[in-house]
Amino acid sequence: MKGNYEEYKKTIHYSNRTGVRATCPDCHVPKEFIPKMLRKFEARHDVWGHLTGKVDTPEKFEAHRGEMAEREWARMKASDSSTCRGCHTYEGMSSEIQDPAAVKKHTMAAKADSGKTCIDCHKGIAHELPKDAED
Ligand code: HEC
Ligand code: HEC
Ligand code: HEC
Repeated sequence: MKGNYEEYKKTIHYSNRTGVRATCPDCHVPKEFIPKMLRKFEARHDVWGHLTGKVDTPEKFEAHRGEMAEREWARMKASDSSTCRGCHTYEGMSSEIQDPAAVKKHTMAAKADSGKTCIDCHKGIAHELPKDAED
């Protein structure tokens, strides 16, 4: 558990130039759930318990990381990456200052029938990828 938190602390979602921080529930708990789940999910540890269930040692964590990651990917895909979109929008991205490779992909992905959502292209942004993850 500590390892997973340390991984996140090395990423831009924890620390960046402007100080806007994405916390665990920002990515893992969709807004629709917040009113009714607030009591359960308020603390980081509760989100942790929700995501990992019975996994309580670093060894068990690594052994289950692949399936836990798959579950989060599936949830994010199903919600069209709704938690990401709570902070990021295609409309809000400036094509003048964004990386040109990103502008190209985002212009394509923003089309209603693209079938692509943030998590399709942006896995492993807050934690290390499972060792057995394909590409
Ligand atoms: C609470 C708001 C918030 C949420 C939720 C959020 N982000 Fe971010 N994201 C940020 C901020 C702030 C930055 C850093 C911006 C900067 O300083 O350039 C960032 C940066 C990024 C970057 C650039 C990474 C880099 O190394 O430059 C990517 C890609 C990204 N986010 C994808 C995602 C995806 C995918 C999700 C959903 C799983 C997500 N974000 C959820 C706020 C958020
Ligand atoms: C079809 C693939 C694709 C999709 C879908 C996609 N992106 Fe990207 N994105 C890229 C690529 C490629 C880059 C450039 C390389 C990189 O930073 O990973 C990028 C870069 C970024 C960056 C950094 C831009 C910069 O100039 O530093 C952010 C932030 C980001 N994406 C957020 C998102 C969010 C949020 C979504 C969903 C609303 C999304 N992306 C959907 C492919 C995609
Ligand atoms: C910027 C969005 C973002 C933030 C912030 C974030 N996560 Fe995640 N988390 C993800 C994504 C995306 C995955 C799916 C696996 C991957 O792509 O890394 C994931 C996967 C996980 C998993 C499954 C195991 C694994 O490592 O893949 C756990 C457990 C987890 N997150 C816990 C947390 C905790 C606890 C925090 C706060 C310390 C946190 N996450 C913060 C986006 C985020």
